[in-house]
Amino acid sequence: MEPIYKCLLNRKTKMAVIGLGYVGMPLAVAFSKKMDVIGYDKDEMKLENYKRGDDPAGQISGLKEICKNIELTSDRSQLWNAKVYIIAVPTPIQMDSTPDLEAIKNATIDVGTCLKKGDYIIYESTVYPGMTEEVCIPLLEKTSSLKCGKDFFVGYSPERVNPCDALHGLESVVKIVSGLDEQTTTAIEEIYNTILPGRTFKVSSIKIAETAKVVENTQRDINIAFMNEVAMALEKMDIPMDEVISAMSTKWNALDFKPGLVGGHCISVDPYYFIAKAKTYGACTRLISIAREVNEGVADFIVQRILKLLIQKNKMCANTKIGFLGITFKENCPDIRNSKAIEIVRGLEEYGIRVVVTDPYANPEKTLNECGIRIWNLSDISNVDCIVVAVAHDKFKNMQMAMFDKMYKKGSDERIFIDIKCAVKEMKNRKKYIYWNF
Ligand SMILES: NC(=O)c1ccc[n+]([C@@H]2O[C@H](COP(=O)([O-])OP(=O)(O)OC[C@H]3O[C@@H](n4cnc5c(N)ncnc54)[C@H](O)[C@@H]3O)[C@@H](O)[C@H]2O)c1
Repeated sequence: MEPIYKCLLNRKTKMAVIGLGYVGMPLAVAFSKKMDVIGYDKDEMKLENYKRGDDPAGQISGLKEICKNIELTSDRSQLWNAKVYIIAVPTPIQMDSTPDLEAIKNATIDVGTCLKKGDYIIYESTVYPGMTEEVCIPLLEKTSSLKCGKDFFVGYSPERVNPCDALHGLESVVKIVSGLDEQTTTAIEEIYNTILPGRTFKVSSIKIAETAKVVENTQRDINIAFMNEVAMALEKMDIPMDEVISAMSTKWNALDFKPGLVGGHCISVDPYYFIAKAKTYGACTRLISIAREVNEGVADFIVQRILKLLIQKNKMCANTKIGFLGITFKENCPDIRNSKAIEIVRGLEEYGIRVVVTDPYANPEKTLNECGIRIWNLSDISNVDCIVVAVAHDKFKNMQMAMFDKMYKKGSDERIFIDIKCAVKEMKNRKKYIYWNF
């Protein structure tokens, strides 16, 4: 049999990428340089933006030209033309923190109804261990009336890129690949090797690949939770955490974790997928759950800390104005999903404080519609009692100190400066400034 990647390179067949978000769109772009690609997303507005060359994630340049080589569509019937399907739709959690499988099930049904003999389906969405085989494959078989392993072939390759981070994108990460059997795994490895030659890592089963993804993110969550717990304790003990980190980092085996807000679509979500599945086996996940609890509590801790400083400095809540810099869940990225900065803004507003938010990356319309928070220009931040730098965007890190000075109320001798991510440490010893970092 001709290797599948050769068949694709010959442009005899097409690939369909289902879900064109932070993960799916860069994949579609990378594969479109090697083969014919159908980009399928149910969000028609997003497709129109892409066609105009507008990438909401700000990750891809020259998109308008690139999109001419991708068949962008929300029409499911187009999926009939594909031979390889990559599914990269969201896998969020519900209000009770259990997995929300609606999008991945819907995408699976869409693909299943278009399956043909010889097709390959690769899941990239983050799932719990066993989900591909227990939920997705039965759904594909049901909707297609075909048999997996005989008529069509399924694999799992978790996405590990860090969107908006030039150092850890598709061009550099190692891709774990797996299939239901050895032959499928090899075929899937060949497919990925067309865009990331030599950077695949084969594992022996789909379950290993699924587990590796959620466990690597859970490990990160736990390590950050530890640093957050220590930071909150040291705050009470009046010991500066940043100096402790500098000192302990000189040890050969110190781990490079810092305290901070854990939001977004991966680290604050994936541990819940692991917990949900482990629970069905009666397995203990106490540490993982407690780490989640600790990280979920950080935003409130910071709200309380800001309030304490304001009250200590006689800045009464009703007349207080805060300039709030950064609302996205991480630096240099427009993604506001599960952003803990949003929780801090809401927490402060509950006390009647006026919070004026600016963020050079967040989409103002989206932020207003989805979170009810208005985004102002940086130049609109004036006459404030306190500045909070919540996200370490490069733009904030590189700002002239005089620009911060201008934002405060005239004549203010006690300028409260909250530097959650230690992004503007130069403020620490400046005259008239009361500096606090986490
Ligand atoms: N963003 C990250 O940093 C990241 C990193 C690694 C892994 N992941 C995982 O990758 C998956 C996708 O994440 P993302 O950040 O790209 O999400 P996203 O929200 O940016 O994009 C998902 C896209 O899928 C579309 N979609 C939803 N349901 C659909 C359906 N039934 N059919 C077609 N399109 C549909 C949405 O309209 C959206 O455009 C998730 O499982 C996530 O956990 C994300």
